[in-house]
Amino acid sequence: MKKYNVAVIGVGAVGIEMLRVLRQRNFPIRNLKVFARSSREIEVDSCKYTVETISPEGFDGVDIALFAGTEGEKGAATTYASCAVERGVVVIDNGADFRMMPHVPLVVPEVNSKDIKKHKGIIANPNCSTIQMVAALWPIYKKWGIKRVAVTTLQAASGAGKAAVEQLNEELTEIAGLRYQDIRIKGYQAKSLPQQLGFNVFPHIGSFAQDDYTNEEWKLVHETHKIMHDKKIKISATCIRVPVRTGHSEAVYLETLKPIEPDKVKDVLSKAPGIVLIDEPRNNLYPMPKDVEGKDEVFIGRVRKDPFVKNGLWLWVVADNLRKGAATNAVQIAECLTLASA
Ligand SMILES: NC(=O)c1ccc[n+]([C@@H]2O[C@H](COP(=O)([O-])OP(=O)(O)OC[C@H]3O[C@@H](n4cnc5c(N)ncnc54)[C@H](OP(=O)(O)O)[C@@H]3O)[C@@H](O)[C@H]2O)c1
Repeated sequence: MKKYNVAVIGVGAVGIEMLRVLRQRNFPIRNLKVFARSSREIEVDSCKYTVETISPEGFDGVDIALFAGTEGEKGAATTYASCAVERGVVVIDNGADFRMMPHVPLVVPEVNSKDIKKHKGIIANPNCSTIQMVAALWPIYKKWGIKRVAVTTLQAASGAGKAAVEQLNEELTEIAGLRYQDIRIKGYQAKSLPQQLGFNVFPHIGSFAQDDYTNEEWKLVHETHKIMHDKKIKISATCIRVPVRTGHSEAVYLETLKPIEPDKVKDVLSKAPGIVLIDEPRNNLYPMPKDVEGKDEVFIGRVRKDPFVKNGLWLWVVADNLRKGAATNAVQIAECLTLASA
């Protein structure tokens, strides 16, 4: 089997999970380099890794680079992706910097793996909330068509990186030792997120635009259109941060073009790749973030019809945002590349 020289950029919440997923899925690695802003030794599941300080020359000889650095102007991908591509590297980026560029495929392998072959050096991994929603919508879309989607996301702390998990941890630790009547609900100084997350939820992920939606909410719209190659689907989102460590949940409401029956939807979803249906609500069985942490699939439950709107349907969709929402999806894209070059 052909082996590849792989680089992982970033050792935060997603980067660490990348190292874990590459190992767990036996990705055919000849040589692995790990880059961050500064060098150090790290250990993940008893495996030791040497983290090197990132530099353009570090990409010499690398075949595939999985970027999990921070986004934006001084982010890892903005600074180093083009140097890597010039050196013949195929970049798979987790951030939002390249996702909507027309020449960059935006890929959820269960949905649009064919787009990978159009790449010009960079392939983008969608936003974590988009990945799980699109994976759930696609089997329904293929059979019944989708006219409209309204989604409320309940997003875990780790979706905002390592520092946000530390904030939640500190807030909960401070509260944990207190008796209920002594708990101060207000007054914790948020250190990383825009608000206190312990004992709280807030409707603010990303930054607000003029239209009062956040950029996170618009990502669900634009990225879904691009991945599903259908701009006609009317999509609207509200993104909420919840005090969960890892695992995003989504209450997804959709209207199909053709008449729909929940039992048929359940049958289709239960056979779809990468999806696990857990839908026995009367036995208290439905997906929850605490149960999906560390798993690679998208979990769906609470499939039910709108009693008032023709072709209206609810889904409850849960996935590990660091795995299928980031690292696993990126490694699956890399696996598609290896299959294409085999
Ligand atoms: N968390 C999620 O659920 C999720 C899901 C989908 C996509 N993403 C995206 O994945 C990326 C990583 O997110 P994260 O949550 O893992 O962030 P994080 O926990 O904040 O970690 C960021 C890592 O990137 C490194 N880094 C930052 N700037 C760099 C640069 N210029 N050069 C090299 N390394 C750099 C940091 O290095 P140091 O350790 O040296 O500071 C750190 O190791 C982001 O673009 C994010 O939007 C995250």
